[in-house]
Amino acid sequence: MNWYEDSIFYELYPRAFCDSDGDGRGDLLGIRQKLDYLQWLGVDVVWLLPIGDSPLRDDGYDVRSYYQLHPDFGTIESFRMLVDEVHARGMKLLIDLVVNHTSDEHAWFKEARRSKDSPYRDYYVWSDTPDKYPEVRIIFIDTETSNWTYDEGSGQYYWHRFFSSQPDLNYDNPKVQEEMFRALAYWCELGADAFRLDACPYLFERDGTNGESLPETHDFLKKMRAFLDTNYPGTVLLGEANQMPEDLLPYFSDGDEMQMSFNFIVMPQIYLSLKRQDHTPLMRVVRDTPPLPEGCQWATFLRNHDELTLEMVTPEVRQEMWEHYSPYMNQRINLGIRRRLAPLMDGDLRRVAMLYSLLLTLPGAPVLYYGDEIGMGDDVSLPDRNGVRTPMQWDDGPNAGFSTAPASKLYAPVIASADYNPAKVNVAAQMADPNSLLHTIRKMVLARKQVSGLAHGAVEWLPNAPKPVVAFTRSDGSFMLLALHNLSGDEQMVTLPPGSWRDVFDATQTAAGSFTLGAYEWRWMVAE
Ligand code: BGC
Repeated sequence: MNWYEDSIFYELYPRAFCDSDGDGRGDLLGIRQKLDYLQWLGVDVVWLLPIGDSPLRDDGYDVRSYYQLHPDFGTIESFRMLVDEVHARGMKLLIDLVVNHTSDEHAWFKEARRSKDSPYRDYYVWSDTPDKYPEVRIIFIDTETSNWTYDEGSGQYYWHRFFSSQPDLNYDNPKVQEEMFRALAYWCELGADAFRLDACPYLFERDGTNGESLPETHDFLKKMRAFLDTNYPGTVLLGEANQMPEDLLPYFSDGDEMQMSFNFIVMPQIYLSLKRQDHTPLMRVVRDTPPLPEGCQWATFLRNHDELTLEMVTPEVRQEMWEHYSPYMNQRINLGIRRRLAPLMDGDLRRVAMLYSLLLTLPGAPVLYYGDEIGMGDDVSLPDRNGVRTPMQWDDGPNAGFSTAPASKLYAPVIASADYNPAKVNVAAQMADPNSLLHTIRKMVLARKQVSGLAHGAVEWLPNAPKPVVAFTRSDGSFMLLALHNLSGDEQMVTLPPGSWRDVFDATQTAAGSFTLGAYEWRWMVAE
């Protein structure tokens, strides 16, 4: 099996993790200092959100350079030092590559908008009218009213799928395609092991279509893969394609496109099942997911740096989820919910741990979001999605141990709420407490590494499990794990399959027959 198929990924917002030079902003050398922690937690792959130069109107997803680092993060030398240390520990580094768009401050766009005759004009998508491609949806519906913005200077509209400060690149221009190969090569040379291809479904536009997942886009992504296979074999592409199942699966193609794709289909169904205390939505979606081609894998996740997206559920389900998980309007953004995992669970760590157990036992390679392993809170008073990107809470000292700068200099305030401030939630305290959420998650992560078959093994649902219980076995022929999860706050009775079952964590033996799960309890058992 390839390394990425059974790895534990950790998504980290570099500005938030650790500030090594006391300027109030996290940096690459800070991350390097915290690799001991990540290794202790059992992380195999460190995923860095964008570190390139950027005016930061979309936290680095507005690219000003594909090569220079944002000075906050350090220098290319710091990147090398980080990557070397990651590799020395047997870990891998995944970085974001923003393929769809740049910032309007990128030199290409500045040059492009200078005049219609600029050699860079064709790097972007222009039109005399804002009426082209009317079938294309607006993604950032809370901020944008059109995917076209008028450029006064040159008298035409430019195309953008996200903020108007992020003009889309024109992939019909072979030079743009070459630029991306150049950027891939540059970061591969520096040691990147994998790339998250940001917003990859939207690379091409065609009349009469919604501009998503077009054949041209797949062709280009396959070219990227072929480029890597030829020049940097083993380098992995992880696609961020927030699409319906029938449109998501083609990103794996015949195993010759992306090796990995985020599982945007399973994620919302986990929350829906929990809300309804009914395993049906989750069971249905897992059952309906066809097997992947050889060498491909899902990246499964509970939360990330964006809103909990509800784009891929029906409007009725979206409303149901919004009402339950984000009762206040300021907790919502676009078609999603801008909250972290622990607050979504009303601070109930039994539920948080139970969801982690699901994440770690369902098929796929799990991606953890920084801070969720200690149950960090969020701050909806901050704009956009910034409330889930606050400084990591290392200890209960000044600035939660994140930075030695004066608090007023931090890029964002440390969470101060009564339930989630650093005195209540921090790494050091949880490391010292064997019963903490952090230890519980680590225990699961380490146990997962001992159990074969979790990455791809078959899923069999326990027949007759009560609705509030998610119960399945995972097996690869040689091994069988039984995972039980109680989605409700009431005791539930399940019937264990024939055989004798040993608890993975406390080694207790249970025979087939009735077994009682406490409120939100989860169990991992292996067949003896
Ligand atoms: C990233 C977002 C970003 C958007 C536009 C997304 O897919 O995850 O954080 O705002 O791309 O670049």
